[in-house]
This record gives sequence, structure tokens and C-alpha cells, in this order.
Amino acid sequence: MPERIETMSFAEDDNPVVVLSGSGAIAETYRLLGELGASRAMIVSGQNVGVLPVVRDLATSTPSGLEIEAFDRVEPDPSDVTCEVGGTAARDFGAQAIIGIGGGSSMDAAKAIAAEAVTRGWTKAQAHPGEPTQIDFDPLPVILAPTTAGTASEVTPFSVVTYADGKRKLVLSHPKLYARYALLDPEMLLTCSERVRVAAGMDALTHAVESCVSKQGTDRTRRRALQAIALIVPHLPRVVADENDIEAQRQLQLGAMIAGLAFSHSRLGIVHAMALPLSALFQVPHGVANAILLSYGMRFNVMSDIAGFAAIAAAMGVDTSEMPPEQAAMAAVDAVEDISRIVGAPRHMSEVGVTKDAIAQMAEDAMPSAHIACNPRHIEEQDLIELYNLAF
Ligand SMILES: [Fe+2]
Repeated sequence: MPERIETMSFAEDDNPVVVLSGSGAIAETYRLLGELGASRAMIVSGQNVGVLPVVRDLATSTPSGLEIEAFDRVEPDPSDVTCEVGGTAARDFGAQAIIGIGGGSSMDAAKAIAAEAVTRGWTKAQAHPGEPTQIDFDPLPVILAPTTAGTASEVTPFSVVTYADGKRKLVLSHPKLYARYALLDPEMLLTCSERVRVAAGMDALTHAVESCVSKQGTDRTRRRALQAIALIVPHLPRVVADENDIEAQRQLQLGAMIAGLAFSHSRLGIVHAMALPLSALFQVPHGVANAILLSYGMRFNVMSDIAGFAAIAAAMGVDTSEMPPEQAAMAAVDAVEDISRIVGAPRHMSEVGVTKDAIAQMAEDAMPSAHIACNPRHIEEQDLIELYNLAF
């Protein structure tokens, strides 16, 4: 008997995505396509997800009057070329909606493909670091179903695209990139390897921490970020220890999504800015890059927002009631190092194939990121070089 699917909307968070949460939520896809008035839709995924029985069935067991095509060629860190090819496939098929299923890469690609399907060449035209994303048309409506609890792409207006020419990862951001529906089905998380569960969970924790102390944060985004931390921290070790702990998967998935509600508006900070070049130049998975860099970024920032970091420590379950503020703030860094150790996350860039001679280039590439301006402490390129060296 499937559990009840809970439908949530977050107008008070200024977020337009309708979220359906619960085991079996993926089965709502046909009904939602009906609500969107779509009789032809394209699934966007990577190859591993594309062969899952639940995803195959979605494409082949359609009710009459509905046709679904599958595009399963999204690679990790999707390129502008993949988005263009996917957009052409959607246009040729006559897709009226896009269903993105997978981790951040597939969901981000789904958003770009929904735009590319309407305006060919849109993705390539956004290749301008530091400049706002332009969309003066309506992309196809998008339904997203995450298979990892991390990225929160299902509720954010962001699409991270790797531009093949310059090996540069850019965060495209526009309100028209929000999905219409997000399907949080914890059963969809059961396909992840332990390595992916750790990386995704550490990405979610990084979102919540960076959002909480972002200069662009508000009381509302900070409340959401702390709520996310309180959900992620106890449930991530449970999910890493036992992937079949569905209740922990559901809570972690909610925590990751709630962090997305926060950082959709607050943006992030130094850790995400520094993580982008690790993926673009060395194909380090996004969550792994964040897991390595998070405690270094926190240590750099901690005295710039003592109250913010003290609140993070408390949300992580540290008893800060008897601590002076600076000690409470530092306790957040220690608690992140503890959880990182507990879940077995990598701690150094040298463990994941990054070479020292690239540090100057990585620092240069990280500086134009919009996350830099949101960081609680002012950042110079030299700071990034020093932090990369510490994290090496
Ligand atoms: Fe992230």
C-alpha cells in the first residue's frame, strides 16, 4: 500500500515549485503531465538512471493519448553541447514537457533542454561568466524527480552547465528555470552508491551552511537553512549506513530540498565558488568537491559571522548554551569535520586527482562566480590560492 503523497507549495518562500513527497510520488507523473496539458513529453536522464525499470516503465506504460520519449545521454557535469543535442531531440519529438530524472546533472540539463527546445542555441548564448542569464521566452514546463538527496535542483532556478570550449562551469540562473513540479520519492534514492550518497549529502549540508551565512540571506532563508541543517545532520549518517532506511532517506531528501528553498534566494559562498573549477578541470563530482572544501571555507569565514556559525552549531545538535559566542561558532566547524569523518568523505584535493600546478588557474576561474559576492568575508584571489593549498 503506497503511503500518502504529501503536496507542498512554498509561496511564502517565494518559490513557485509544487513539491510532492512520499514513496511512490514518481507515479504521479502522468497525472501532472495531464495538468500541464502535455500529450508528448521527453524524459531527460543519464544512462544509469535511464535503464532503471521504474524509468523505463514510465516511458513505455503510458496511458493512451500520452507519448513519452527518453533522452538518456546526460553525462556528469553536462556540457552545453549535450543541452543543445537534447533540445534538438525534444523539438524533433514535439515535446510539450520535460521530465528530468536523476542527480543534479540530469535535472540541470533538463532545465536547459527545456529552454533549448524552444530557442535553439540558447545554452551557448549564455556563456558569459559573471553576466546575468537571459531568457525572454517560456521554456517547456519541467517536472523533476531527484535520485540523490543533495543538489536541490528540483526547487532552484539554477542550471549548472559546463562549456566544452573553455572547460568552465557556469551557474545559469533565472526564474524561468524553475521546474513546475518536484517529485520527492525516497524510493528513487535507493539506486545510489554509498559514494554518491555521501557526496550528495555533503553537498546539501554545504548549501545549508553557506546559505545560512550568505550576505544575501534574509531571516526567512536563514530559518530555512537552519531547518535544513537540523534534518540533514542526523539523517545523513543513517542513510550512509543503511540505504534501505526509507524514513531517513525521506527526511534527508526533505532537508536537501529545504536547503534549496533557502539558497535559491540567498545564493551560496566561497565553498561553491571554489568547487566549480575542481569539477570543470578535474571532473571531481560536485558533492565531493564541496565535501573536501567545506570545513576550510567555514574556517575562513567563521569570525565574519559569529552568530550565524553559532546558530549552525546549535542546529547540528551541539549544546552551545554554556559557550562564549566565538567558541560556539568554532564548534560548527568541528561538527562539520566530525560528520565528514563519520560518513567517510574525502578530505583533500590530492585524494581525488587534483594537481597542485592548477591551483592558480582554479583561483582565477573561481573569482567571477556570483557566490563570491555573497560570502560573509571579503575574498581576494590570493585567499583562494591559500585555501586551495590548505585543502590540497
Ligand atoms: Fe551544490
